[in-house]
Amino acid sequence: IDAAIAVQMVLTLVEPQSSGIGGGAFVLHHDGKKVEAYDGRETAPSAATDKLFLDTQGKPLPFIDGVVSGLSVGVPGTLTVLEMAHKEHGKLPWATLIQPVIQLAEEGFKLSPRLHSALLAENYLINDLVAASYFYDAQGKPYPIGHILKNPELAAVMRDIAKRGSQALKDGPVAEALVKKVRQHPTRPGSMTLQDLANYKAKKREPLCFDHTVQTTGKTYQLCGFPPPSSGTLAIGQMLGILNNTPAGKMQLEQGLPSADWLHFYTEAARLAFADRGQFVADPDFVQAPGGDWRTLWNAHYLKERSSLIGAQSIKVAQPGNPAGTKTAFAPMPAQEEYGTSHISVIDKFGNAVAMTTTIEAVFGSRNMVNSGQGRHGGFLLNNEMTDFNPAPGVTKKSGQIGTKPNLVAPNKRMLSSMTPVLVYKDGKPVLITGSPGGRTIINTVACVVINVVDFGMPLQEAVAAPRLH
Ligand code: GLY
Repeated sequence: IDAAIAVQMVLTLVEPQSSGIGGGAFVLHHDGKKVEAYDGRETAPSAATDKLFLDTQGKPLPFIDGVVSGLSVGVPGTLTVLEMAHKEHGKLPWATLIQPVIQLAEEGFKLSPRLHSALLAENYLINDLVAASYFYDAQGKPYPIGHILKNPELAAVMRDIAKRGSQALKDGPVAEALVKKVRQHPTRPGSMTLQDLANYKAKKREPLCFDHTVQTTGKTYQLCGFPPPSSGTLAIGQMLGILNNTPAGKMQLEQGLPSADWLHFYTEAARLAFADRGQFVADPDFVQAPGGDWRTLWNAHYLKERSSLIGAQSIKVAQPGNPAGTKTAFAPMPAQEEYGTSHISVIDKFGNAVAMTTTIEAVFGSRNMVNSGQGRHGGFLLNNEMTDFNPAPGVTKKSGQIGTKPNLVAPNKRMLSSMTPVLVYKDGKPVLITGSPGGRTIINTVACVVINVVDFGMPLQEAVAAPRLH
């Protein structure tokens, strides 16, 4: 946990496009005995409604207009969840873990090729005055690779965090500057208040674990991951279960790669899993699991029934199933656009393991950079996680009924996530810690990496570098 905290703080500085203290995170921790899931997902501000992303005529705003705004900013959770995990598992003092980022922010760091290419591809960030003077030169060009970037404002914020922990983002000058940034957005202000920041709570949740037997070797692995509001572990459990009901379960690699037949079964299994994801999964504090337990989505009979839908030709558009005989008024949620996010995997010599996926959602989030005036230059970016909610209320189904989408905006609700930090075990020992950036594609990235390692026996680097399908 100490390492994960130090890494996350430094990522706020050196990979600001992907994650940081202005966003949210899922932290999965294993201490050699048990797995624990710490949920630091952002929440909707208390005044947010399901009409948030509608224009004055009641039509959904263009997606990017919602993203680049104050509307899209969820109440950040990363700092609070790390503090919670540190209280339970940290060994070094909290303030010690914040020192590396303070030093790097003051002395400067070399702008990476990755950050530079993100800046080159970016059209909106320069309109934020704080970001414009931090990332771009006087001609409005992104600073080059290797440029030494200093962030005195972030150093000041981090000094406050070293002293006051997550309280530094709940009251005082940084919290006030954050709220002002959201509420005074020049085109689409948001509703966030200091009370929203003060009320934010990280949550400890029961992780979801399932067994996966590799049919070609007979070896059984256990995979543990995050429960809702993440959708990833549920989907991967369905995909692996469905695949084992098809000939794919017994297929081997052909010349080091999955065969065309295997890929057919894989894509069909993924389609079926994503159909259930869109129909059923959302913040568990607002939406009930089918049959009262998310694991009904992994029920062996149910997955066998789902597998029987796979034939020689693609089903193209999969429909959700009916787990646990669910009667639901839900309508499926539409596809989302999302890109950002970071993943951190940590293990120590004692076997303590952390899989942490962390995000400000889109690349550079909502393009709002907070500066509290403590350091003249720089700051940190705010998330646009609210666009992980469905953009518009109610859809009319073929039957003419209006369905309520489970992942609609509601006050204090957590938005559905694809972030999929996972720990894979063999005989109780961790063999793989993984996760990925990539919005919805995270789920297939993680599924492919797990399958490549566990089912196909690829070395880790090969498994990560192999082509993947979404
Ligand atoms: N914003 C990425 C995710 O939570 O899925």
